Amino acid sequence: MYKVRVPATSANMGPGFDCMGIALDIYNTVEVHEIPEGLIIENHGRDADLITKDGTNLIYRAMERVFRQTGFVPTGLKIISYNDIPVARGLGSSAASTAAGLLLANALIGEKLDMKRIIELGTALEGHPDNIVPALIGGMTLSYAQDTSTVGYIKLDFPEKLRMLVMVPDFLLSTAMARKVLPRQVELGNAVFNVSRAALMVAALTAGELDHLKYAVQDKLHQPYREKLIPGMQEVFQQAYNAGARGVFLSGAGSTLIALVDADNNDFLSRLKGFLDSMSCKWELKYADISRQGAARIQ
Ligand code: HSE
Repeated sequence: MYKVRVPATSANMGPGFDCMGIALDIYNTVEVHEIPEGLIIENHGRDADLITKDGTNLIYRAMERVFRQTGFVPTGLKIISYNDIPVARGLGSSAASTAAGLLLANALIGEKLDMKRIIELGTALEGHPDNIVPALIGGMTLSYAQDTSTVGYIKLDFPEKLRMLVMVPDFLLSTAMARKVLPRQVELGNAVFNVSRAALMVAALTAGELDHLKYAVQDKLHQPYREKLIPGMQEVFQQAYNAGARGVFLSGAGSTLIALVDADNNDFLSRLKGFLDSMSCKWELKYADISRQGAARIQ
């Protein structure tokens, strides 16, 4: 039996569409057993009823990809997951499943694939590297796909003194649906805006100049279009800034919102909670720290 722990991730972080992401200390734990035949999948914990238990399961599909690449034929498999990562809320639950499947399959074949290859397979499965890279290696990452078989990344500094308030609404949003609302063409002015903000994000974090963060999280590529899928998003952003947030952004494709908050801002959550409680949808609030290690074999 092999077991891995994989983190939630938040992609984009405002302007870094499809390239920036951060691993959070919210985890799924997944184990695999080789059994005489067949496929058995058990899901436990958060949103377990939303996860498939057949050949379409993302953990299984990632495992299959590794087996196909390496010619390994398992007898049968039993996959058991214990989940804390919300599904279809922009917290990387699919990347976590893919990461788990790749690492567990690699364990079954005797660790024949190196991390570079695992990242490339994960990016091919996910379609973009911004969740899968931090899920696998942890931290905050800037990642890029150079071509179908080359994925590069750099781990960025993320200040010790920042925490993330994760605001998870009670409605699901599929990435496919949230990508459909994006325009195919981007105006030059908007492209320039995002280039400057994404570069500012890296520079501000590296230099520890956190006053720039409220500008660094601005974006004109995806958030303005996705806003209509998340009722009250702008009002939540405004309230979070009023309560002292350093920056606020849509997590991945949504529906979760994340505020970057100074660790010593002790009344941030209570100041925001009153407003969120008055909204028509219900919000679950939870502080998360960066997961610096990322996915790991624990057995
Ligand atoms: N970068 C992706 C998007 C993340 O915003 O659509 C979703 O997983």
